[in-house]
Amino acid sequence: MNDIIFDLKNVQFSYLGKFPALCGVDMTIRSGEKIAVIGANGTGKSTLLQLLDGLIFPDHGHVTAFGEKLLENSHVDEKTAHRFRKRVGLVFQNADIQLFCPSVREDIAFGPLQLGVAEEEVDRRIQEVAQVLDIQHLLERVPHQLSIGEKRRVAIASVLAIDPDVYLFDEPTAGLDPLTVRHIIDFIVHANRLGKTIITATHDLHIIGEIADTVYVFDRNKRIVRGGATQTVLNDRSLLEANNLIHIHQHHHNGKEHVHQHLPLEPHD
Ligand SMILES: Nc1ncnc2c1ncn2[C@@H]1O[C@H](COP(=O)(O)OP(=O)(O)O)[C@@H](O)[C@H]1O
Ligand SMILES: [Mg+2]
Repeated sequence: MNDIIFDLKNVQFSYLGKFPALCGVDMTIRSGEKIAVIGANGTGKSTLLQLLDGLIFPDHGHVTAFGEKLLENSHVDEKTAHRFRKRVGLVFQNADIQLFCPSVREDIAFGPLQLGVAEEEVDRRIQEVAQVLDIQHLLERVPHQLSIGEKRRVAIASVLAIDPDVYLFDEPTAGLDPLTVRHIIDFIVHANRLGKTIITATHDLHIIGEIADTVYVFDRNKRIVRGGATQTVLNDRSLLEANNLIHIHQHHHNGKEHVHQHLPLEPHD
């Protein structure tokens, strides 16, 4: 049995103490797993990733990471904070939150430099991650002037430069063209083969067959209604429909009424 990376027990969280975002979540994630968290908008996926990244903390219950409870004051000392930041990296849905330096090169260098990595090693990592994500030509560009897909690749590069054990991806393929989606899926699959633990929040059911072995479904009550093998969850059409992940499409065709179930983005006529 692999080591437990995250263990969540009855985790509850609300924003400002009044907007519930997670209501009683139990979850165990082991080293090397490939997990997807799926659910309609507002079901708590991004909140979960922020809890796993130690950016926010539960109101009730607890999150244990690498055998230690994540508490509001547990990252006060720099050494502990750095150790955690070296192990867990979050790629935000909105790359603009993550990219704030005057150049792509500086954005990629920021994390490792903060964590005390030597400058020559940082330079080496920049070259390496730029090649992996095919952004060598963007290194001197201003991040906020890039396209969404370019920004997303730079955001991933800035996390890859830290070389964490665990990647948290928030809607990594939303709004991207098919080629960039392919690039990101390949990156995730490859990183997992190298032993990285991957947790992806998404409502794009097309990608989860590749990026996840296990899927957790969040419902509108902001709790897990199902956890299981990806294919088993994908085959449960009524579960997906009840949770707004597929919809019934009704139309007339050749004078007859047809009812289709399809994924939100699945082409249909
Ligand atoms: N900064 C915030 N302030 C208040 N409520 C928030 C904030 N962020 C998220 N929420 C609420 O928390 C719930 C879960 O949101 P979120 O985790 O972003 O869901 P998802 O990522 O699944 O779309 C939603 O009801 C949302 O309105
Ligand atoms: Mg979200």
